[in-house]
Amino acid sequence: MDQEASETGGATAVAAEDVAAAALAEPAAAPELLPPPAVRWPLARRARAFGPSLWAEVGAYLDRHPDPVFFGSGAPAPELTPLDRLRAAAAEVWADAAGNLGYAEATGYEPLRQLVAARMADRGAAVDPAQVLITNGSQQGIDLVARLLLDPGDAVVVEGPTYLGALTVFEAAEATYVVVPMDDEGLDVAALGSALADRAARGLPAPKLLYTVPTFQNPTGGTMSDARRRAVLALARRHNLLVVEDDPYGELRYDGEPIATLRALDPDVVYLGTFSKTIAPGLRVGWLVAPTELVDPLTNAREAADIHGERMTARIVHRTADGFLDGHLVAARAVYRRRRDALLRCLERHLPAGTTWQAPTGGFFVWVELPQGLDAAALLPAAADRGVVYMPGGWFYPDRRADRGLRLSFSTLDEATIARGTERLGAVVAEALGGMAGDTPGPR
Ligand SMILES: Cc1ncc(COP(=O)(O)O)c(C=O)c1O
Repeated sequence: MDQEASETGGATAVAAEDVAAAALAEPAAAPELLPPPAVRWPLARRARAFGPSLWAEVGAYLDRHPDPVFFGSGAPAPELTPLDRLRAAAAEVWADAAGNLGYAEATGYEPLRQLVAARMADRGAAVDPAQVLITNGSQQGIDLVARLLLDPGDAVVVEGPTYLGALTVFEAAEATYVVVPMDDEGLDVAALGSALADRAARGLPAPKLLYTVPTFQNPTGGTMSDARRRAVLALARRHNLLVVEDDPYGELRYDGEPIATLRALDPDVVYLGTFSKTIAPGLRVGWLVAPTELVDPLTNAREAADIHGERMTARIVHRTADGFLDGHLVAARAVYRRRRDALLRCLERHLPAGTTWQAPTGGFFVWVELPQGLDAAALLPAAADRGVVYMPGGWFYPDRRADRGLRLSFSTLDEATIARGTERLGAVVAEALGGMAGDTPGPR
């Protein structure tokens, strides 16, 4: 997390010490991280993005203990799923199904687009429902933008670390990366400015996209400050960089005042939202808000992918959310706030000296940094043997670098499980340190 902006390209990824050194790395194809699937037919180059699933790897770690605590889920708490409301909405929607089961609605169910625009207006973004495209989750939004913008070799600016699912999309697009570090205020704009200037000085094409999760980030839980948001937008405008704001957790704030979304500050931002974290991920309903001139091309790209979204589910989500979601979120936030607090208390109690972490003000994740000299990925087998599995921080970089950071998710775990898991984690870290004492543990 504390490296300068770096570019990765070719089979060997470059994690440079400084921006100037990073700029010397020739961007090429995406890094070959995982072997392509072994099949008899010659696969496309992009198939390397679909190598062995990370979730299979995680599953193998979970199998190493009879009763593991899994801190890796990015899902909402299943017990918060508004099942009765969904059942009632589904019954009503199916009672009225005639006429809604043909091909239609490439941009999505109009009342849902209006509801999305109204919710975004409540958060300060003036959005015309005509700019809203209902998607199969925000993951599809990332994919559509990548399909529309990226040619092989094009550079994408990402936060280091960033959301794994976005990296898979960018790898499938055969993109290269400009990885920008973050500090307590979010993406380091000065480092990004230097990286962009260095590229320009060397005649390299400018990156086309800046992908960011500015609010309760996955994986760090961090939130970009208002000043930093404005600076990022100003820099992006100067370099004609399309900013993609991925905001699945923005409505899950537990403390402090709401912060303006990037889309609220700049109508040229592509905004990605989802009902996955607030209603249920299995419904696969999200949305994309685009600048008007991108709406048609994105809709056409979407038609190429899956013609259009599922019409009945869009109606079910609309009926479920309408007049209900705000109240539901009040209750959900209370649950998640308690879980976050429990995790922070347990980290304080169980993690050995030299371990630090960031206390998030919302979302699902706490980013922990192990004491100097430890690598979270290298420690994972021992942790799994002891019954605790987390997501190593290095997995959230395009080059899967060694990193002492790790992501702990608290959303799906009750307080007793959080206590058991952190106690196990503390024991593994202490063992790895060989019982050596360091600094006092605590929040950064
Ligand atoms: C940052 C980020 N973007 C996108 C997604 C995917 O969300 P959806 O279920 O809406 O596709 C996730 C899910 O974990 C996420 O954390």
